[in-house]
Amino acid sequence: MKVGVLGSGDVAKILAGGFIKHGHQVKLGTRSPAKLAEWASTHRSVALGTFAEAAQFGELVVLAVKGSAAHEALELAGKTNVAGKPVIDATNPIADAPPVNGVLKFFTNLDESLMERLQNAFPDAHLVKAFNSVGNACMVNPQFQGGTPTMFICGNHDGAKATVRRVLDQFGWETADMGKAEAARAIEPLCMLWCIPGFLRNDWVHAFKLLA
Ligand SMILES: NC(=O)c1ccc[n+]([C@@H]2O[C@H](COP(=O)([O-])OP(=O)(O)OC[C@H]3O[C@@H](n4cnc5c(N)ncnc54)[C@H](OP(=O)(O)O)[C@@H]3O)[C@@H](O)[C@H]2O)c1
Repeated sequence: MKVGVLGSGDVAKILAGGFIKHGHQVKLGTRSPAKLAEWASTHRSVALGTFAEAAQFGELVVLAVKGSAAHEALELAGKTNVAGKPVIDATNPIADAPPVNGVLKFFTNLDESLMERLQNAFPDAHLVKAFNSVGNACMVNPQFQGGTPTMFICGNHDGAKATVRRVLDQFGWETADMGKAEAARAIEPLCMLWCIPGFLRNDWVHAFKLLA
């Protein structure tokens, strides 16, 4: 697949590397490609461009920017460049405030997630929440003693979720589809839970698993 990754932070770089590892073509979009010059020199198969160029390139788009900038990044990517495409939404609505006793603050509430806001603003994009509830170091083929970890996903478009499920299969995850976009109200706060052991005990290597 051709994958357009929007972002230049750790998540964008790790996921871009994961897509390359699994044989996909990647264009990574940022407002300032120059700052990725050093990283790009060791990842020569990843093309760099603007948000719009990356989104246009991708048959699959990955949104991996700061949560508060996600709307702006999609605007820069261009509505037509994401229309009709699966968009993996890895963002979290983390507020610009310090955690309290290890608990992050969000700028959303439990009746409206960031992904719903984005889906409403970009109705033709097929957003799928994924990769938001695990640290970047564990995103691509993580190895846990407890077995294969679970990625909770949601979104309104079944075809887009099928695409994301295939990506998660390649990246070493089992997928738990929690339904439509509203389920992001529950999936986004998993980021808060995931981060607590990190902030309290500097333990950043773990993932969720759904047992049945
Ligand atoms: N870090 C993790 O391990 C982790 C794990 C799971 C989920 N997440 C979520 O994944 C997302 C990315 O996290 P990250 O740590 O990799 O990076 P980040 O520092 O949260 O975000 C960096 C990205 O945000 C973009 N950005 C910032 N302000 C912007 C603006 N005003 N307009 C457009 N774009 C703007 C930057 O664009 P430029 O490239 O143009 O500078 C850059 O690509 C976040 O939503 C985070 O909550 C992070």
